Amino acid sequence: TTTSLKVQPIAGRIGAEIGEIDLRDALTNETIGEIRKALVHYKVIFFRNQNLDADGQVAFARRFGEVTTAHPTVPSLEGQPEVLDLDYDRTVARANHWHTDVTFVDRPPLGSVLRAVTIPPVGGDTVWANSVTAYQDLPESLRNLADQLWAVHSNAYDYAAPALDLSEEFRAYREVFTSTVYETVHPVVRVHPESGERGLFIGGFVRRLQGLSQTESNDLIRLLQSYVTRLENTVRWRWQAGDVAFWDNRATQHYAIADYGNQSRRMQRVTISGDLPLSVDG
Ligand code: SIN
Repeated sequence: TTTSLKVQPIAGRIGAEIGEIDLRDALTNETIGEIRKALVHYKVIFFRNQNLDADGQVAFARRFGEVTTAHPTVPSLEGQPEVLDLDYDRTVARANHWHTDVTFVDRPPLGSVLRAVTIPPVGGDTVWANSVTAYQDLPESLRNLADQLWAVHSNAYDYAAPALDLSEEFRAYREVFTSTVYETVHPVVRVHPESGERGLFIGGFVRRLQGLSQTESNDLIRLLQSYVTRLENTVRWRWQAGDVAFWDNRATQHYAIADYGNQSRRMQRVTISGDLPLSVDG
């Protein structure tokens, strides 16, 4: 029997919606294989209007690999160590900066499954960028340069530096986030372990490039990053409560738009373990 997934691309270079599927169902290995193919191809896939609870979300994520039991520094949902509780009113700083998740460890996540619990009436969209097409957009001379670079990634960084009006709770969160300092190096160009595609593997946790001064690093990172965040390489999702997004953390960056004032926004994230990023030299 062949199941055929209903996959509808929603932007030219990244993102597809998968319809007519209930993620609570006991999905066959074949269906999971097709979802995985869609994930690797489209980089981020969306499932509208699901009725998953946290347990169902974990069970779905487990079909794609080992689920991480805790973020290195961010608190999980009470009693459910696999579920990160991103309650932007209470516990976490808003993620309105471009980043790839948890790149400051040696083996950053393969991907994340994010479920919308509470969504403001307007605003609070999330944008994803395709770091493979960003790499392909580089002029050849920059591609050759990027292929040879390695970057230092660390979580010791002030997410909320521009915000002067931080509440006590946010201050406390930030202290927890940076309470343990992680630092590692990854190739700037990562060869995707499933597709073989090359992509820029940078994002918010890059501190500097090996062998370059801080000023040179900043300039070069800004230049490379400007290719990642070109609107042509992005897709924007207008959330409804219940929606599920699943992104390939090896080939994307994302940005949660903080344009919803003091309204509630709560998301829950389950993260799938990943492997050691490989450079173009293996
Ligand atoms: C995240 O950055 O992992 C969460 C994104 C979001 O809240 O939309």
